[in-house]
Amino acid sequence: MRTIYLDNGATTIVDEAVIKAMLPYMNDKYGNASSTHHKGQEAKMALEESRDVIAKSIGARYDEIIFTSGGTESNNFAIKGIAFANKAKGNHIITTDIEHDCIQNACKWLETQGFKVTYLNVDKEGFVNPVELEKAITSKTILFSAIHGNNEIGTLQDLDSLGKICRKHNVLFHIDACQSYTKTDINVKKHNLDMMTMNSHKIHGPKGVGALYLRKGIKITPLLHGGGHEHNLRSGTENVSGVVGFAKAVKLAGSSHIKQMTKLRDYMIENLMKIQDTMLNGPEGDKRLCNNVNISFLYVEGESIGAYLDAKGICSSTGSACSSRSLEPSHVLIAIGRKPEEAHGSLRLTISRFTTKEEVEILLKELPPIITKLRKMSPLGRKDPCSSDAGGW
Ligand SMILES: Cc1ncc(COP(=O)(O)O)c(C=O)c1O
Repeated sequence: MRTIYLDNGATTIVDEAVIKAMLPYMNDKYGNASSTHHKGQEAKMALEESRDVIAKSIGARYDEIIFTSGGTESNNFAIKGIAFANKAKGNHIITTDIEHDCIQNACKWLETQGFKVTYLNVDKEGFVNPVELEKAITSKTILFSAIHGNNEIGTLQDLDSLGKICRKHNVLFHIDACQSYTKTDINVKKHNLDMMTMNSHKIHGPKGVGALYLRKGIKITPLLHGGGHEHNLRSGTENVSGVVGFAKAVKLAGSSHIKQMTKLRDYMIENLMKIQDTMLNGPEGDKRLCNNVNISFLYVEGESIGAYLDAKGICSSTGSACSSRSLEPSHVLIAIGRKPEEAHGSLRLTISRFTTKEEVEILLKELPPIITKLRKMSPLGRKDPCSSDAGGW
């Protein structure tokens, strides 16, 4: 059976060119980047060149990039590291109620350690209101952390207005850019960013590699103590082949891919919204991630749609991949005002630069009959509005 992979928000295929770039660092060039001999220096050079690629892609300096094991670690490092380094200044953190679990759970844990966290509400498309951010800032606020491109509904926050408010009040500004990095322009100077989380496996690079941009001069407490790697901020032998693959993936990501994905995304939305009783979750247009489609199909369960699609070889997701095994409605969909039953009917389809129009056409052919069938089978099923048992839907 042919696979049509529409779950690129969860992870992506590793580009062949990335694998090719990584291989020498697993066999020939296997040195430890901390070793002083030539094998070590070969690895060190690759590490530093990769750091430079990633720094340049966001307008940062090479010594402002710290390599980590991925988005979860970078987010934990940013939140906990800043909290503990700035305890004397204040104990208040602001975030949003549509964060990825790794930010939400790091914040919840910090609450058990004496920190106060404000979770800002978002509007019905998932945007943070800058006025609400400014109102939430107190003399004890040390950090505002926000998800830039939402992993479930694709909302892209307005970094300019949020960044300006943080700078005005001397509050550090961190973004989780795991979904948006290379899918929209990000410049750390222009947006007044102090920290930014990135990872590799969402952009056709290997899993288990990520980075944190940390603006020069910012005090942070390391999570991992050891041999003092990564400017003494993240100990542990560097994953050289992974980092080389990450940098190669960044080099391969181009603005033409953004245009191509945007066109396909809009084609999918336009056609899927023709199915009766559907709701688009998240905004339309430029303020949406170029690869994200999230639609609630009323009167059916997203889980069942996903299972039927899977039987046809089509990979999709309900909620975020990391929480899609949970039966709780998505906290993001609830935060934008969806009712639990609307949230349960949601399906996320995320494309990549490798997704073809032909694959999308197959989805558009396969999905409507699945929805019709499930609506007929479901106790929530849409009743014929003319029949006597039309019910409360
Ligand atoms: C927005 C966001 N943040 C953080 C993460 C976690 O990243 P990683 O899988 O690299 O730990 C993900 C991945 O699912 C994500 O989508």
